Amino acid sequence: MTTQITIRVDQDKCQGHARCHALAPELFQLDEFGNAREKLSTCSDPDLIEKAHIARANCPEEAITISEL
Ligand code: F3S
Repeated sequence: MTTQITIRVDQDKCQGHARCHALAPELFQLDEFGNAREKLSTCSDPDLIEKAHIARANCPEEAITISEL
């Protein structure tokens, strides 16, 4: 069974630490203020899913939410 996730960055919580982008540039991009935006809102690639979880765990503001579909 393929797992699919959705990724969301809470713009109110994100403080621009950029760890998400450093760890998973395929999934997160930084805007002009240095805050993260999702590059992909959904993803099913196992390697990217693992990276998404690592990025979430490394965000000091707990701004990243991952939901399984
Ligand atoms: Fe923002 Fe957290 Fe990334 S604060 S830039 S979502 S590491």
